[in-house]
Amino acid sequence: MNAAEKAFNVVKKKINGAEIALILGSGLGALADEAKNRKEISYDKIPGFAKSKVPGHSGKLISGTIASRKVIIMSGRIHYYEGHPMEKLVLMIEVLAKMGVKKLIVTNAGGAVKKSFKVPSLMLINDHINMIGDNPLIGGAHFIDLSDAYDAEYRKIVKAAAKKIKIKINEGVYLALSGPSYETKAEIRMVRTLGADAVGMSTVPEVLVAKKLGMRVIGISCLTNYACGVTGAPLSHKEVLESGKQISKNFILLIKGILSSKKF
Ligand code: HPA
Repeated sequence: MNAAEKAFNVVKKKINGAEIALILGSGLGALADEAKNRKEISYDKIPGFAKSKVPGHSGKLISGTIASRKVIIMSGRIHYYEGHPMEKLVLMIEVLAKMGVKKLIVTNAGGAVKKSFKVPSLMLINDHINMIGDNPLIGGAHFIDLSDAYDAEYRKIVKAAAKKIKIKINEGVYLALSGPSYETKAEIRMVRTLGADAVGMSTVPEVLVAKKLGMRVIGISCLTNYACGVTGAPLSHKEVLESGKQISKNFILLIKGILSSKKF
């Protein structure tokens, strides 16, 4: 039995399967409280899973229904910068696949690189740039196509849902760096020159594994602060979490809107 099968055998006894999964970013954990008929298992109880030590990440797999749709919620993710090997991250997404997941909504907290974006606000990710310095697919000849990494059809659904509930949502490119330090002003100038609109330390690894496993992906970034040098204000994780809370209501409304869409 491989590691993913071992973890799956434990998880399937505790929570229900679902076609849709959500990965919640820093400070966005409140969405999990919306799930009805909740069942949950702590990452501690799952072989091969690791709990994030980062404040704002709880560390549970939860099943339930939101907007009458069955979902699995990964409440709390691990990050490459915590020193976890990429295999742990791969394993977590493989377990979702075994639980029946085919559609993945990945969320994160990010810094706004584009000056015209409001903060806090929501950004629909339409593409990414991987500058984490690693790739979870290393170890196999996984030459996967990423021309539609953030599903074009689903992006239309997200925009329609935002319009319906009158939330302004920007669209843009997310660039992932390893962290854990925030970027320098010079790095943010580089990031902007490279064509990114937001910057963060997560999401890309999970999306790469999800695409390899054939999932369709939606990415939503909660822009919790302006990236370094954009306004001159210093950055802090406290601000990230506070902004996450401020945007939480709109974020929950948007997710419910997406889940309510007949096209999703
Ligand atoms: N940079 C990197 N990661 C982040 C930021 C940022 O400004 N804000 C939230 N996550």
